[in-house]
Amino acid sequence: MADGKTLEFNLEPCATPVHASERERLLENPGFGSLFTDHMAMIRYSEAQGWHDARITKREPILMDPASSVLHYAQEIFEGMKAYRLADGATALFRPEENAKRFQASARRMAMPELPEPLFLKSVEALVDIDREWFPSVEGGSLYLRPFMFASEVFLGVRPAKEYLYLVIASPAGGYFKSGASAISIWVSEHYSRAAPGGTGAAKCGGNYAGSLIAQAEAIEQNCDQVVFLDAAEHKWVEELGGMNLFFVMNDGTLVTPPLSGTILPGITRNSIMTLAREEGLTVVEQPYAIDQWEADAASGKLVETFACGTAAVVTAVGTVRSSGGAFTIGSGGPGQLTEKLRRRLVDIQRGIAPDDHGWVKKLF
Ligand code: PLP
Ligand code: COI
Repeated sequence: MADGKTLEFNLEPCATPVHASERERLLENPGFGSLFTDHMAMIRYSEAQGWHDARITKREPILMDPASSVLHYAQEIFEGMKAYRLADGATALFRPEENAKRFQASARRMAMPELPEPLFLKSVEALVDIDREWFPSVEGGSLYLRPFMFASEVFLGVRPAKEYLYLVIASPAGGYFKSGASAISIWVSEHYSRAAPGGTGAAKCGGNYAGSLIAQAEAIEQNCDQVVFLDAAEHKWVEELGGMNLFFVMNDGTLVTPPLSGTILPGITRNSIMTLAREEGLTVVEQPYAIDQWEADAASGKLVETFACGTAAVVTAVGTVRSSGGAFTIGSGGPGQLTEKLRRRLVDIQRGIAPDDHGWVKKLF
């Protein structure tokens, strides 16, 4: 059976790519998540054959049987990562091995086969290579990559499927937030939980997002940009946003972030920020932080900044927090100095402007 080291991708370039002038026009204002490149990567898995039929092909709709088990029992996982154009014109990925490992961890939790790391990396790199003309020209733009896998077996029995389809699509991206605001507002979800102990909170599976959408819709109704989830057991401890991890900056040089207790996603940006913050001389602590404490610390001035981070959102300041009980402002309500400093340090490494002392940047070509 294919172990991922020997499997080669069949290259089937798109015969009708988007015309260069149209592509240039689209890339001037890519937004987030609605513009796609000409190609996709695809690998099939079956219990009998293992990983097989690896291809880079034209991006097109996929035909699905109505009894494909993902449509019923939601065995689906995904990753989110970015390819960057560096200052020297080269193209690079940021810590892609971490995405490969998290994809395997998500697969384990969802009783799916683990895609070997070399195959994950090869699929992403081959797609970036063939769609290299699709980097946005806008400031802060990148090529957002979305590897994902779902149960494609045609079967309605409730058990792990025996067949899967793995795909990677690419989406030229600008900023994640439409408003372009320098600090976002957060709605505290008091009724809905994102994840419970023993559940799937640490896996990047579509079901986690499906369950979070009603709370995100509530946030928008309340004129907030994002929802923040509290722990499911006590509704007391701050966990994370629908698609970002959270950090709290204290006036004594401590940076607090909720621990990886199994209910939040182990963010790669979160991990990188912890390293950079320690290098800046901050004391980083992973510890539970209560919603009431957040408000009290913001009021007393002990808490000076809060920021959210993730691949799509990069590092984004949180300005205000609202709940049914009222609202509070953090610091001046705009981005604080440390948020800006850490954001700059991260972005400069990702873009090849600052030296990559940690070996995080993987140059492709
Ligand atoms: N938390 C959730 C729920 C997410 O969807 C994401 C985004 O992938 C993150 C956190 C941040 O993770 P990363 O920094 O690896 O993108
Ligand atoms: C990412 O940051 O890559 C995510 O998957 C989060 C999603 C909200 C876009």
